[in-house]
Amino acid sequence: MGEMTTFDRIVTRNEEMHECLQIAQTAAMADVTVLIFGENGTGKNLLAQAIHTASRRRSGPFIPVNCTALTETLLESELFGHVRGAFTSADRDRRGKFELADGGTLFLDEIGDMSASAQAKMLRAVEEKEFEPVGSEKTVHADVRIVAATNRDLPGLVKGGTFREDLYYRLNEVVLRVPPLRERREDIPELVRVFVEEGNRKFGKSVRGASNVTMDYLLRHEWPGNVRELRSLIHYGVLMTRRDVVWLEDLSWRIHLGRPPHDGAGAAPGSPGGEDDLSLDSVDHRHVERVLTITTGNKKRACELLGISRPTLNRMLRRWGSPHAPSAGEPDEGEGEEPVPTEGRS
Ligand SMILES: Nc1ncnc2c1ncn2[C@@H]1O[C@H](COP(=O)(O)OP(=O)(O)OP(=O)(O)O)[C@@H](O)[C@H]1O
Ligand SMILES: [Mg+2]
Repeated sequence: MGEMTTFDRIVTRNEEMHECLQIAQTAAMADVTVLIFGENGTGKNLLAQAIHTASRRRSGPFIPVNCTALTETLLESELFGHVRGAFTSADRDRRGKFELADGGTLFLDEIGDMSASAQAKMLRAVEEKEFEPVGSEKTVHADVRIVAATNRDLPGLVKGGTFREDLYYRLNEVVLRVPPLRERREDIPELVRVFVEEGNRKFGKSVRGASNVTMDYLLRHEWPGNVRELRSLIHYGVLMTRRDVVWLEDLSWRIHLGRPPHDGAGAAPGSPGGEDDLSLDSVDHRHVERVLTITTGNKKRACELLGISRPTLNRMLRRWGSPHAPSAGEPDEGEGEEPVPTEGRS
């Protein structure tokens, strides 16, 4: 908060993303409505704020509204305000976000979740720049620029009849698509650098970055939670590490927690014993399964991380009856391969 978000805060080396930012910058100046598509955590909020800051309205307010999780009446009152007595809990007049955004930008987040009646009212508000608060007959004028965002398939919602076509065409004067992180992995190293710095400031640390092995994992991960997931994982690593770079080991607990827990007593065949079984074999088993999770089942990579050969790994997996064990007849590929220890070399 406080500090204004500008386009140069948006880190990227990806071509599609650069194109998106270029279009956004041009649109920002022109006061047109912008519709942003993108999965959760891809940076839609950041982009909306950057558009506002780059626009002629930068000294006006930037007002975000989340259209999810509000009942129909509450969303309408949130957007357009209400007069006292308009509904049960309305004990006094209240100005809506549309009015508060006068002279600035109204950011409609999760626009796909807006109810039909809010959509109707929104259409008129966007077109005529006027509306009536809930329960009022007095028309209010507000000069508002709309930026909207959604992670849903809005054209699909239009086809299915849950989103008004006229509103859709009114909102999509400029359309931006923010690609998911897995489609722009080249952004990961620079994002890590930025988030390590944030983590250092947040936790008063002086971590220099991520180890090679950590970076290798970060570059392979699918990132269902996109940039937000990466940011939160890196902050965690910066907090937890006792070294000057984040090792994969510093993250392993957190990465591991994403999997369903296995309990020792009722453990399925092939799953490691409980955490309180301290025999070396059981600890080995848990560790190996954890590394296989990190490498998303890639045994060659797991061998490199573990510093063991492929036949050794397969022998262990067979002994434990692991689901990762090679099936009968499958050859022990990678025979005689040298283990490649990489951790700590960064
Ligand atoms: N390209 C980027 N460079 C730097 N930080 C980024 C970038 N993209 C996203 N972030 C950061 O990642 C986090 C998530 O971004 P943001 O809240 O904008 O995503 P979103 O698409 O609005 O997510 P949601 O759909 O869940 O609302 C924020 O902390 C944001 O600052
Ligand atoms: Mg958002």
